[in-house]
Amino acid sequence: MVEFETLINPPQEVWEQIVQFTADTETWNLHPADYKLWKENYNQFWLVTVVEKGTLNFAASVSLARSDGDDGSLYSIGMFYCLEKYRGQGLGKPIFQKVMDIVGDNNCTLPGAVKMSAKYDKVFGFDKYPGHWHLFSSLKIQDVMLPEKVSEKYSTKVWSDVDYDALTYYDRTICIRDRKKIMTAWFKLPDTYTRVISDKSGAIAGYGSLRLVANNRMSLAPFYADSLEAAEVLLKDLLENLPNWTKFATVELIYPGCNKDPLRLLEKFAKTKEAVSTSKFCRSQFTKILIPTPDKKVYSLSDYAHQYV
Ligand SMILES: CC(C)(COP(=O)(O)OP(=O)(O)OC[C@H]1O[C@@H](n2cnc3c(N)ncnc32)[C@H](O)[C@@H]1OP(=O)(O)O)[C@@H](O)C(=O)NCCC(=O)NCCS
Repeated sequence: MVEFETLINPPQEVWEQIVQFTADTETWNLHPADYKLWKENYNQFWLVTVVEKGTLNFAASVSLARSDGDDGSLYSIGMFYCLEKYRGQGLGKPIFQKVMDIVGDNNCTLPGAVKMSAKYDKVFGFDKYPGHWHLFSSLKIQDVMLPEKVSEKYSTKVWSDVDYDALTYYDRTICIRDRKKIMTAWFKLPDTYTRVISDKSGAIAGYGSLRLVANNRMSLAPFYADSLEAAEVLLKDLLENLPNWTKFATVELIYPGCNKDPLRLLEKFAKTKEAVSTSKFCRSQFTKILIPTPDKKVYSLSDYAHQYV
């Protein structure tokens, strides 16, 4: 009989197992560097893990981040995961309860997976959520055909070459909470390529990060654009500026299902529309206050584990 123990903020080695397992079984898009980023840039961060006793062999996890703002603290829960061979044995629920005890009466958000969403609602009070689900769309690189002609009204630059105040201002039109610190760290992550799109007058019309994640996948996280026309230019530039982009397996978006443009965007880059595969992925759930998001501009969430947009 295997015995278990709980470790809070375990060594990086445990995190790297989580990155790989969650990519293999759930297509989650984490990176080895995310753990350090969360620990250093949230006001407080907990990665609660269950390991096989006396080892660093991962069994289950859940993470909790606290970000303080003018509107108080917002907590977010992510990485709730149990190895397939240990599911249903009672490892998950107690660690989830542990982080909920820390959350207390504060507002808390999580991306509720399809199978779990109703339980979070009924058991833990994550009962404020929009009518739509977030969808996951993926396109294999072998099925990509770059659009030959895209709009000439826009051009893109690497994020570090644009006016950073203007970029921060744009981000506040997407996320009403101030997340400058974490997004700046996000742009500086390894294997992350961020470009900003502007119109002829120089006004920012969106930005996107292409992240190289486990299993040779390219995850667009985040990707925001004021229009499909701008999104098309941005995606083309992100791909073309990445050396050897064709050697990766897939390119992926996670977006609010009420916005049809992200799917149209991937279809514009596909040899056939059927090449894009789409599934229901998660729902943005809150305990106290549902924070609004400009869904029409959201082509992909940023950090799917700890950001709600
Ligand atoms: C969700 C998951 C982590 C649960 O872990 P687990 O160790 O199997 O859960 P437990 O054995 O502690 O669960 C005991 C029971 O409590 C339920 N439960 C577990 N965590 C819960 C939670 N946070 N809220 C409400 N119910 C919960 C389980 O569904 C189960 O109920 P059932 O007996 O009716 O099926 C696991 O199934 C998993 O890794 N799933 C894939 C990844 C995923 O979807 N994660 C959720 C992301 S939002």
